[in-house]
Formats: sequence, C-alpha cells, structure tokens
Amino acid sequence: MRKRLIVSAASALSLLLAVPASATDFRPGADGVGDPYYPTFGNGGYSVSHYDIRLKYQPATDELEGTTTILATATQDLSRFNLDFVLNVSEVLVNGRPATFATSGDQELEITPARPLAKGSQATVVVRYKDVPSTVERYDGYTAWRRTPDGAVAAGEPVSAGWWFPSNDHPSDKATFDVSVQVPNGTQVISNGVLTGTSSQAGWTRYSWRENKPQATYLTTLAIGKFDITQDTTVGGIPVYNAYSKDLGDNAAAARASVERTGELVDWLSGYFGEYPFSSVGGYVPNIDSGGALETQTRVRYGPGAFSDGSNTSVVVHELAHQWYGDSVSLNRWSDIWLNEGFAEYTQFLWSEHENEGTAQELVDYLYAARPASDPFWSVKPGDPGADHQFAAAVYYRGAMAIQALRNAVGDEKFFRILKGWPTERRYGNGTIQDFQAYAEKVSGQKLGDLLNTWLFTPGKPAVGPVAPGAAVAAPLVAGQAQAQLPTEPKSWKKIQEATAVHESRR
Ligand code: ARG
Ligand code: ZN
Repeated sequence: MRKRLIVSAASALSLLLAVPASATDFRPGADGVGDPYYPTFGNGGYSVSHYDIRLKYQPATDELEGTTTILATATQDLSRFNLDFVLNVSEVLVNGRPATFATSGDQELEITPARPLAKGSQATVVVRYKDVPSTVERYDGYTAWRRTPDGAVAAGEPVSAGWWFPSNDHPSDKATFDVSVQVPNGTQVISNGVLTGTSSQAGWTRYSWRENKPQATYLTTLAIGKFDITQDTTVGGIPVYNAYSKDLGDNAAAARASVERTGELVDWLSGYFGEYPFSSVGGYVPNIDSGGALETQTRVRYGPGAFSDGSNTSVVVHELAHQWYGDSVSLNRWSDIWLNEGFAEYTQFLWSEHENEGTAQELVDYLYAARPASDPFWSVKPGDPGADHQFAAAVYYRGAMAIQALRNAVGDEKFFRILKGWPTERRYGNGTIQDFQAYAEKVSGQKLGDLLNTWLFTPGKPAVGPVAPGAAVAAPLVAGQAQAQLPTEPKSWKKIQEATAVHESRR
C-alpha cells in the first residue's frame, strides 16, 4: 500500500516535469513560414507528414463537404497554430478533443487545441467543412476552384490547396496524401498518384487516390467530371494514367496526340535526370482553360488551350521535366522559381535538339538577338524576379539562357552530370539556387558566381549572349547602326512559345 503511494507520487511528479513549468512557454505558431514573397503562406511551429482528405462533391450545386485529417509534429511548444484554408469550417479536433478556431487574413485558420502541443509531439488534426468553393475569392478575386460544365477543377500555383483542403500551404513542408472523393455515379474523380480503388453505394461512387512520395501542397490537384481514361505502363514499367474530358471538341485529337506520349517522354527524360521519382505518371485535360498547364505531381493539368493549334509535345516535356525539377526537388522559397521554370524550359530546348528542330544554342542565340536591350523583358531578374513577376517570360527564357551559359562554361560532360546529379542527390527534398550553385561548383570544379550573377541576379541585357565555345562574339551595336539581322527562327520556337504563353496566364 505504502509502496503504491510512493509510486503514484513519483508518477505525478514525472507528469509535472513532462509538462513545462508554466503555460507561458507555449507560444502561438507563426502565421507564415517566412517566405520573402508571400509572408503568410504556410505556417510556423509544426511540420506535416500526411494528409487524409475525404470529401463528397455534388457538381449540380458545387457543394463540397467532408473532412481532412492531418498528421503533424510540433516543432516548438504550441499554444495554438494556423492552417491555411478558405472554406467554411464547422468543427476542428486536435488529438480527439474539440478545438476552438477562428479565421483571419486571406487564408488563416487559427486553431487553439484544448491541450497545448509540446515540441516534438505528434498531433492529429481533423477539420470538418462544407462550402461552395467556386464562390470563394481571395487575393484580389482569385479562386483556385473552377466549375466546369460537368464538374470542377482545383489547381493553381503558388496556392490552390486552400480551396479544397486545409494545409500548411508552402512547398517547404511536403507530405504524403490520401484523397478520397465521392461523386454522383457516372462522374469521375482524378487526383495525384495511384487510384487505389473505387466503390459505389446508393447513387454515389467513391474514388480513392494515393500519393506515397512527399508532395508540395500546390502540386495536389483534383478534377471532377466525365473523362475518357487511358491506362498503360512506360517501357520502364511505370503505370501511366491519362484522362481527357469527354467535352474537348476539336482539341481532343491534338490533346491525345501529345499527352499519350507521356510514357515515351518520361523514359527519354530519365536519360537526362535519372530514374523517374514517382510510382505513377500521367495527365488530365479538363474542359476549361484555367491558367494553362501545371506540373501537378504525377498527374499534370493541361489546359485544352495548349492543344488548340494542334499537338504540342513541348508542353508535355516541360511539365514532365518539372516532375524532377520542382516536384521531386522542390523550392524552399518562391523567389527560387528559376530552379523550376528555367530547367523545365531548358528541357524543351533539349527536346528541340533531339527532334532536329533547332539546338539549344540556336534557340538562345535567337532569343538573345530578338530582344533589344530596351525591352522590359531584361529588367526582370530570373533568380529573384519579385512576386509580381514570378512567372514572367524572363524566368523562363532568360532562365533557360542562364542554363545554356552554364553548359557552355563547364562543357557538356560536366553539364549533363550536374543536370542528372542535382535531382538525384536532392530527390524528394528541397533546395535553393545557392545550394544548386554549390553543387554545380563541386561537380565542375569551377567558380560559377560571376556567371550566375550576370544571368540570374543582374537586371539589364548581358553584354554578350551565352556564346557557344569557339563561336565569334558579335561586336556590340553602335548607336545609329542598323539592327543586326535576326538569326533564323528555330523550327521548334512556335510550339515552345505556345507552351510558355500558356504558363504566363495568371495562376
Ligand atoms: N508552373 C506552371 C508551368 O510552368 C506555370 C504556373 C503559372 N502560374 C501563374 N500564376 N501564372 O507549367
Ligand atoms: Zn513550368
């Protein structure tokens, strides 16, 4: 008896010690991760390992309802924490106990758990919600959820998740995903990863998707509607799942003639970037053009407009290149967007070389010559374009010129080692331009600071283009002298531009 008493006194004491001395050690998590372009994107104080999203959607009314369960680990002692979300919430549970919540700003959901969360502890957060997502506008009239004649599409960069699930909405916090959505029988649901099952009950069909590799929140996507599905595997054995809205009209053939080459292109890209990082691949073409193409992980969203002028393999190459550059290796902050777009664009140049439609060198010579120094194009720094110019033409085209300049400086053998080594070394992680520079310097044994500074971080047209080794450098134009003759337009240029013009539309 006495012994028991001592034991319980000791356990009471250890309980006291486990909980920090006073509740004032627990602080609210920050309302952003500290991104220089978007201070309120993401949140501080925790990191997410998994999202389990279970929804029901009625296309006739655009009503979306359900729950998202989030598995997180506190990275500080938390008295409360935020999620990013725009829909109407009815209930929040943290570790099984009802939590209080409030909303603020564009997409802050502030959650105060019944018991504070100690640093290092795991939390299970359940959020229940119901809303009409297409009616919710944020960031000056933007909505990432768009209705279509037969369903809806959710996709968008740099943010879109908040229109269908609560999250830590920043690419620096990647997680695995289960997405399970019920729709009326006859309607289909497309999302990331592998379709693990479908089941029908009382007029509704549930589609369950799983992405088992780390995925950034903006790379999640959901498409609901009536689709023609094609399924196959790549020669390398990766399952391919593509979906085409039944409502594409004249664009249908061109879309299929492009997107059905996904398997072939993934195998071709693996030669440059190393093994494909995910366990499924494909794309979908909805019957709405909301912002062109987006490299949503394993399941690219292609706006039908990409194929309105006939087939376009260049856009497929671009979005698939992002699976390595952007999706498997992700940004730590949005200012480093060149690591995504410069490389995806440059890969289109490599595809042009492969197709004998112009070499990368011919493309950059053409681009450099076609834009005079007075063109505002040159005022954007691809390495730090500013939030307002995050997807400006310079990020893509000058970004690709920077990569050709790098190639010319280190030579093909080292260049292609860098191109493959970076996504291999950083697989499933994150990186910055400075990390990339350090890696390229290690592989090449050369200092690259001046070169990257000229091409990425200095506004204005560089005095000389990314000149091929051994090529003559044209003398700079003297004032009054006639504009030098433009090099001939490479054969691939039109399709490359079409693919990129699509990207430049807002979100
Ligand atoms: N990452 C997309 C692509 O290049 C472009 C997204 C454009 N986003 C925007 N807000 N304009 O494929
Ligand atoms: Zn891109």
